[in-house]
Amino acid sequence: MHHVAITGTGVFTPSAVITNDELVAAFNAYADQWNAENAAMIESGALEAKTHSSSDFILAASGIEQRYVLDKAGVLDPARMFPRLAARPDDQPGYMAEIGLDAAQKALSAAGVAAADVDLVICAASNMERAYPAIGVEIQQLLGAGGFAFDMNVACSSATFGIQTAADMIRAGSIRRALVINPEICSAHLEWRDRDCHFIFGDVATATLLERDEDLKGPHFKVLSTRCATQFSNNIRNNNGYLRRTHDQMEDRRDMQFMQNGRKVFKEVLPLVSDHIAAHLAETGVAATDLRRLWLHQANKTMNDYIGKKVLGRAPEPSEQPNILQDYANTSSAGSIIAFSQHSDDMTAGDKGLICSFGAGYSVGSVIVERSHGDRT
Ligand code: COA
Repeated sequence: MHHVAITGTGVFTPSAVITNDELVAAFNAYADQWNAENAAMIESGALEAKTHSSSDFILAASGIEQRYVLDKAGVLDPARMFPRLAARPDDQPGYMAEIGLDAAQKALSAAGVAAADVDLVICAASNMERAYPAIGVEIQQLLGAGGFAFDMNVACSSATFGIQTAADMIRAGSIRRALVINPEICSAHLEWRDRDCHFIFGDVATATLLERDEDLKGPHFKVLSTRCATQFSNNIRNNNGYLRRTHDQMEDRRDMQFMQNGRKVFKEVLPLVSDHIAAHLAETGVAATDLRRLWLHQANKTMNDYIGKKVLGRAPEPSEQPNILQDYANTSSAGSIIAFSQHSDDMTAGDKGLICSFGAGYSVGSVIVERSHGDRT
């Protein structure tokens, strides 16, 4: 068995930002327009009028202040309310490959590793832009990486499940270096016309480079242990799929986008995640008091506050459990990796931390890491 380390991470952040106020103004204009168009049906009681959204509610309910998106104009157009991304010809890189490539190159450059030395690329994300060929194989080719590549989808847990998959192959010796890439174009599967969830998601791509922990020269994080778990639930669901045409269901239906029963998710996922982390720490022989940092999935601030308190047995300091969701919103599988990438440089040799993502499935994945400075310690 070989040991595994995370030697680099990279984050691609789109340049366009939508603040809560901008989002709410567009939603309210859309709601007013819809109500005017359907005035007679609303009057007769056949339809319910749409109510306004509010920035205060969004901040209080989620902790989100803004989100990055690939296309701002389409999302904020009250007559459209979803991004406009021009279809790409087959001989040009797809959108997921393009943003995933950027994050991957940053991770490689952080580690000082050449793309040709990577022998596995996993594209792990909540949605895939097409059925095949795999986005991972496209990124492998654009990068000039060797070996092989594939896609996997475990919704919001895709990053940690991808890390476990890659780590297991490195441990077993079938590969030496892997990139786990999470291009999340959440703006394309969010229903921006639904007040209950229109504020939840943003776009981003992250990449994590894992290497065999053998004579590593630079700073890295040893992967002490990984653990994944799933439990079926319909409370976060998207019915869009390849059988759509066979069902004669090609229309723009609500369940073709992200749907959730937010309250139930809260109630059921919190104990699942807290118990999972406690069991993982016990199994690895790491005490909660040994954890210097928690890099949690970035869906909701109240959720993270609850999990942090359960894990540590006290309210964590903001520096112990950094949130990035105020800037990025929920970026599905990428959230915990953004937090890890942006809030781990200050850790000193021997410091331990835990990356944890969770979401649809239900699914939960955790990675326990320990800072090492390689030869420089
Ligand atoms: N603006 C103003 N009011 C809103 C609103 C909006 N955009 N959306 C909902 N409301 C209202 C509701 O109508 C409701 O009013 P009522 O009490 O009069 O019925 C009230 O605010 C509370 O709504 P609710 O949906 O129960 O809010 P919540 O406190 O559960 O927060 C979420 C909503 C989505 C932020 C929260 O459930 C959540 O984060 N869940 C975790 C799940 C998650 O993030 N999953 C993502 C995938 S991992």
